[in-house]
Amino acid sequence: MIAYPRSIIELFGIEVPIIQAPMLGIVTPSMIVRVAEAGALGSLPLSNLSPEEARSTFSEIRRQTSKPINVNFLCHEAPERDPACEDAWVQCLAPYYAEFGLASDPSPPGVLVPAFGSAHCALLEEIKPEVVSFHFGLPSKHLLDRVRKAGAKMVSSATTVEEAEWLEEAGCDAIIAQGLEAGGHRGTFLHRDKVEAQVGTMALVPQILDAVKVPVIAAGGISDPRGVAAAFALGASAVQLGTAFLLCAEANVSSLYRQAVRAARPEQTLITNVFTGRPARVCSTRIVRELGPIATHVPAFPLAGAALAPLRAASEPHGRTDFMPLWCGQGCAPEPGTSSRRVDQMAVGTTQAALVAATQDTPANFDQALVEIRQARHWTSRRNGIPRV
Ligand SMILES: Cc1cc2nc3c(=O)[nH]c(=O)nc-3n(C[C@H](O)[C@H](O)[C@H](O)COP(=O)(O)O)c2cc1C
Repeated sequence: MIAYPRSIIELFGIEVPIIQAPMLGIVTPSMIVRVAEAGALGSLPLSNLSPEEARSTFSEIRRQTSKPINVNFLCHEAPERDPACEDAWVQCLAPYYAEFGLASDPSPPGVLVPAFGSAHCALLEEIKPEVVSFHFGLPSKHLLDRVRKAGAKMVSSATTVEEAEWLEEAGCDAIIAQGLEAGGHRGTFLHRDKVEAQVGTMALVPQILDAVKVPVIAAGGISDPRGVAAAFALGASAVQLGTAFLLCAEANVSSLYRQAVRAARPEQTLITNVFTGRPARVCSTRIVRELGPIATHVPAFPLAGAALAPLRAASEPHGRTDFMPLWCGQGCAPEPGTSSRRVDQMAVGTTQAALVAATQDTPANFDQALVEIRQARHWTSRRNGIPRV
């Protein structure tokens, strides 16, 4: 028997249990507004923005929607500099620098993405988002206490049952079960050296669900209503989708990147560490094939990316994706459309799940299922242009 999920709709104050994944550099304010207005949860990554930029981006969104918003931070520890490793990385890249006529770059890499700290906390206390999600674990307890006091629900990604238990113990309100199919960085934080042992979404979601009491959000490889319905059948309370939004009109994705994602087959994506120093799933490109997928002399996250920047600048204007991090999951990216349309499409999967749940015999399941079905009817009517009754 399928247990109906613990409610995320109630926890986050949203209408449909779909989360547009935070995607650094790709999510735009207009994507979040469209997703939020369609009843789902839009996620705004803020790690790479200064407090001023973050404040103004958040206000721009707030002016256009009063719906709940998730803000997201990468939660890595500040990288330790390792000159020997950084030199080795520069040496690995030297032939490419020579090929593009670039001077080999001896300058120390800047930190492209600062770790979550007190300034971020102060920002959260000021802007008060409804949800805060972290990736790569959680910040220290005193920072976490400040986030909670600011009134936000807190979530983070787990890639193993042990990580999920750790996150629940640390006070997360919900856990994102990130399967190996997922695009972008692996959220892994307790088992970072075990890239080859990553677990798929289908195996991970029910096992995490059995181990924790908080709601579980399924992420990784879900890209159509069938995948959404399957995640709910496994017991997930919501789904978080990244790759499915990559080709949306509002995504800040270049035409080169779009072409690569459209052409990608699942077996052409790989988990690699060459772009940032942390494992992430991308569409395979030249540097992944030639130096990776897992290279040994890669500086710690996020330092590796700095030495690639000149190579990207030299190659991308010529239509070459050789050094481009084409973050992408194993699920195909649906054809272009608006982000609100994407939410409506995926909501069909929640309807299917609710119909299944409605056949369960416990009253709690039935009530929840009815709420879902009524919502789903609203989505269907809206999609077909029929006014809501
Ligand atoms: C392009 C891209 C960028 C991502 N950036 C982030 C990020 O900044 N923060 C984060 O928590 N997760 C990030 N992720 C991971 C997502 O949260 C999520 O785990 C993943 O997209 C789910 O798998 P899917 O892409 O198959 O839907 C990113 C994923 C993609 C595809």
